[in-house]
Amino acid sequence: MSILVTGGAGFIGSNFILDWFTQSDEPLVNLDKLTYAGNPANLAGLEGNPAHTFAHGDIGDRDLVRQLLEKHAPRAIVHFAAESHVDRSIHGPAEFIRTNVVGSFRLIEETRAWWQKLPQENRDAFRFLHVSTDEVYGSLGPRDPAFSEASPYAPNSPYAASKAASDHLVRAWHHTYGLPAIITNCSNNYGPYQFPEKLIPLMILNALAGRPLPVYGDGANVRDWLHVQDHCAAIREVLARGRPGETYNIGGNGEKTNYEVVRAVCALLDEARPHRKSPHAELIAFVKDRPGHDRRYAIDATKISRELGWKPAETFESGLRKTVAWYLDNPEWVAHVTSGAYRKWIELNYVNRES
Ligand code: NAD
Ligand code: DAU
Repeated sequence: MSILVTGGAGFIGSNFILDWFTQSDEPLVNLDKLTYAGNPANLAGLEGNPAHTFAHGDIGDRDLVRQLLEKHAPRAIVHFAAESHVDRSIHGPAEFIRTNVVGSFRLIEETRAWWQKLPQENRDAFRFLHVSTDEVYGSLGPRDPAFSEASPYAPNSPYAASKAASDHLVRAWHHTYGLPAIITNCSNNYGPYQFPEKLIPLMILNALAGRPLPVYGDGANVRDWLHVQDHCAAIREVLARGRPGETYNIGGNGEKTNYEVVRAVCALLDEARPHRKSPHAELIAFVKDRPGHDRRYAIDATKISRELGWKPAETFESGLRKTVAWYLDNPEWVAHVTSGAYRKWIELNYVNRES
């Protein structure tokens, strides 16, 4: 028995793999292209563990996917690999179509061809778990009910559209071919190993360096925040007991405006670095908004809680405290990921943004 994970060197994938091996010794194959977001150092703790096999490659490489399936005969695939950053999708959508749409298509099509040849018992037991996002549902008004699994798709960014497209492919491969696939749609994750292009780690690192904290627009956009380890626990539950053909929304009951999030990061850093002359919040700078910026996301996670008994263990407050502490305790990891290519991205995204 083994499982295949795609994108396991990224933020959520690496947290998933590290958690996996704290609970199981079932072998796991990790297929990752190692884009700017993939970092083998995240998995350094697994060095020498024979149950972890790293396969460097693209989910869109059909020959490689076929070989991996034939060699390892996984009982499940957990598909994390994607281009994941909305701002990057605005600057350059092509890679998002290539990986999230075409890459996912090739992965599920190779999976289908291999799966169809399995003995009936193995076909029934097999799972393809597609890890997706709440952004496929679009944007909510301030009093709208939270997204449920029945909410219509209305993706607004190139990233969200590419994830929505992959969700539709997975759904169709279940409906048409019977592939035992499940989709999870999750809200904003935060926690260890998150690449500092995303809001929370960007704010922690900028604040520590005394750089401005760029809040888009009026800072009143709302996201629902979930600690990454709670997301990983939910994925494990869905993999073990989720029903093929179903979608499960995953969220943290943690709706916050971006301004609240940034203030909370600043307050924790004031505690951790009391010798700074002025409060970190003085670094907050409102900057030009993200084009097409979704106003609010919120998740109704009743279904996964009712069917699978999953609930987040962390509150936003406890999870954020641990996250800030992790970034403070891991300066080497930070130095490694904030290299030349990272600085170029920061320049590209934040130049001419002063409002
Ligand atoms: P990430 O950007 O940190 O990591 C993505 C990983 O995928 C990297 O290791 C990268 O090298 C790999 N990858 C990219 N293209 C690839 C390709 N063509 N072939 C093989 N590997 C490739 O992303 P993340 O934040 O860990 O997100 C993981 C998944 O979860 C994504 O599918 C994302 O859409 C989804 N998701 C993320 C969040 C969030 O808040 N981060 C929330 C909900 C859903
Ligand atoms: O909702 C789930 C999604 O959450 C995932 O599918 C995506 O992969 C993930 O990147 C995330 O998307 P967001 O666009 O919500 O995350 P991001 O961290 O980029 O931004 C969070 C909010 O903070 C958003 O409203 C934009 C705002 N923001 C972001 C950055 C980087 C700022 O105000 N300033 C910034 O510098």
